[in-house]
This record gives sequence, C-alpha cells and structure tokens, in this order.
Amino acid sequence: MKNELPVSEGLRQLPVRPVYLLSTGHKRKKNIITIGMFAYFSGKPSLVGVGIAPSRYSFDLIRQSGEYVVNVVDEKLTEAVRVCGEKSGRDVDKFKLAKLTPEKGVKVKAPCIKESPVSVECKVVKEVETGDHVWFIGEVLATRVRKGHSWDKGLLFKWIGKDGFYYKVGEQVSKY
Ligand SMILES: Cc1cc2nc3c(=O)[nH]c(=O)nc-3n(C[C@H](O)[C@H](O)[C@H](O)COP(=O)(O)O)c2cc1C
Repeated sequence: MKNELPVSEGLRQLPVRPVYLLSTGHKRKKNIITIGMFAYFSGKPSLVGVGIAPSRYSFDLIRQSGEYVVNVVDEKLTEAVRVCGEKSGRDVDKFKLAKLTPEKGVKVKAPCIKESPVSVECKVVKEVETGDHVWFIGEVLATRVRKGHSWDKGLLFKWIGKDGFYYKVGEQVSKY
C-alpha cells in the first residue's frame, strides 16, 4: 500500500541525487556553479548533460563558450558546494571565495577545478529546453582522474531535496 504525496515531496524519495561543481569560462571570465541536474546520455558518442536555469551567470558563460567541465566533489568540498550554490558569479569570484584553484583543461578552454578528484571536459553539441532549465548536452572530450582516486573512500557526494542534506555514496554490497 502506497500513500500519494505532493509531487515535489515524492520526488525527494528517489535515490539520492548527485551533486557536482560545474566550471565554466569565457575569455577572461570564469565561474563555478553547484548543480544537481546531471545525466549520462550516450556511451558512443560519449554524451552527458547538465540542466542550467537561464537566470544563472553560468548559463551565459556556457552559451558564450560552448564548453563546461563537470567536477566530481568529495566531502572536503562541502563548503565549496555550499558557496557555489548560493552566490552568483555575477557578484563574486567563486574560485577565490570557495578557495578553489583553476587548472588548465586538456581539451577545453574552460578551467577545471584542481581540488576535484575527477574532471570531465565537455563541448556543447545540443541544447534542449525543459521547463525551467535548459539541458546542455555535451560531448566528453577528456576525463581526468586524480592519482589514487578510489570509490572505497566514499568520494562521490550526493544530495536529496531542498532540506540541505548531503550524503556520501554507500558501501559496496555486491559484485556486478
Ligand atoms: C545542491 C544544489 C544543486 C543545484 N542544482 C542546480 C542545477 O542543477 N541547475 C541550476 O541551474 N542551478 C542549480 N543550483 C542553484 C545554483 O547553484 C545557484 O543558483 C548558483 O548561485 C548560481 O550561480 P551562478 O549565477 O554563478 O551561475 C543548485 C544549488 C544547490 C545548492
């Protein structure tokens, strides 16, 4: 027997959602935004997507540059996730505010985040409008993983709902 919940509340019952730091840049401008809307769209070609509201400063930078970098976050980046999800790059330099270091990408001009264990460099190949967000579908041009990166340490960080709860990925339970 299941009880009906208001849709927004019901959606919070889905398995925890991922959180990433998305870095962008155009000419001399650079920025970071916390995102939850991330999806893996295709293996061949390798396509991922990020959902960005048009009101975000990051939206303008992705439109102008046609690039973005998806950076995985770990527990040490909690404060950066908060700062980059609250402040707008229109008002502040979030690299400075969140004490993060821009690092040159391999294939894109957008900066990567040095402190992130995994950075995925993407070139926008398609835009899809969905309600209050635009999905920028990106072809993955390069991925970089920090030496010693391991899932065992519970690196990937997840969030659920708007209550401000963050979770780490759980323990390994079975072999594929
Ligand atoms: C956990 C979390 C997830 C978020 N997910 C998204 C998202 O997927 N897309 C989006 O446009 N904004 C998302 N936001 C809101 C932006 O991070 C926030 O509005 C930010 O200040 C925008 O920065 P900008 O104007 O510098 O681009 C999220 C915020 C938090 C805290």
